[in-house]
Amino acid sequence: MASPILRARGLARTYPSGAGPVHALRGVDLDVASGDFLAILGVSGSGKSTLLHCLGLIERPDAGELALEGQTTSTANERQLSLWRNTRIGFVFQSFHLVPELSALENVLLPAMIRTSPLAWPGASGPARSRAEALLERMGLSQRAGHRPPQLSGGERQRVALARALIHQPALLLADEPTGNLDTESGEGIIRLLEGMAREGTAVVVVTHNEALGRRARRAVRMKDGLLSEGA
Ligand SMILES: Nc1ncnc2c1ncn2[C@@H]1O[C@H](COP(=O)(O)OP(=O)(O)OP(=O)(O)O)[C@@H](O)[C@H]1O
Ligand SMILES: [Mg+2]
Repeated sequence: MASPILRARGLARTYPSGAGPVHALRGVDLDVASGDFLAILGVSGSGKSTLLHCLGLIERPDAGELALEGQTTSTANERQLSLWRNTRIGFVFQSFHLVPELSALENVLLPAMIRTSPLAWPGASGPARSRAEALLERMGLSQRAGHRPPQLSGGERQRVALARALIHQPALLLADEPTGNLDTESGEGIIRLLEGMAREGTAVVVVTHNEALGRRARRAVRMKDGLLSEGA
């Protein structure tokens, strides 16, 4: 495999709960290279979202090693983690996490605003806005750019969340069920977009129940009870 952009060894994550601890991840090893297109399959509750959150530096694993572009993340401080999240990683949450008060366009622009200092924003806003508009157009949402998330359908919100994850041209895209709310035709558009991104060198990791997406990924792994096995 080409040099991995992401390398995980023995990732473990346990959640406390009233009914006893839930072992969501029980020692996951995974390598993802630039240009890779990996699908993570598995039944509900098997730990897929937990794994994606750990890989995206959103949750810290309780044990194990994780390296992004050769740099260990387990010992990094919050500031470094947020820099990686804002520059190297694009994340699409299963439940989107759009800001309801902002328009679709503003939601897409948000990561670009967060990582630009207010002083530099006047110079940066033009190009960022053009890029956000182009992404919304690519998602077939030009006519919805001014709508706020509560005014959008589930599938439209999903596409806004994907556009937001792509605004900073991430080296690694992590998407939790990116076609979960889409009809076959819109889903096909997203699959083609993900394939194109992988061809251009982005490492693409999707969690999915979508069989078409699972087949089109370059490789698939299956999650079961917090453990990964190769092959669908
Ligand atoms: N914050 C939390 N607190 C306690 N338990 C949790 C928490 N988040 C997840 N879990 C538990 O961890 C396990 C794995 O959850 P996870 O969300 O990773 O599953 P999943 O494979 O993404 O499922 P789905 O396909 O339904 O999205 C589940 O048993 C879930 O109940
Ligand atoms: Mg999930």
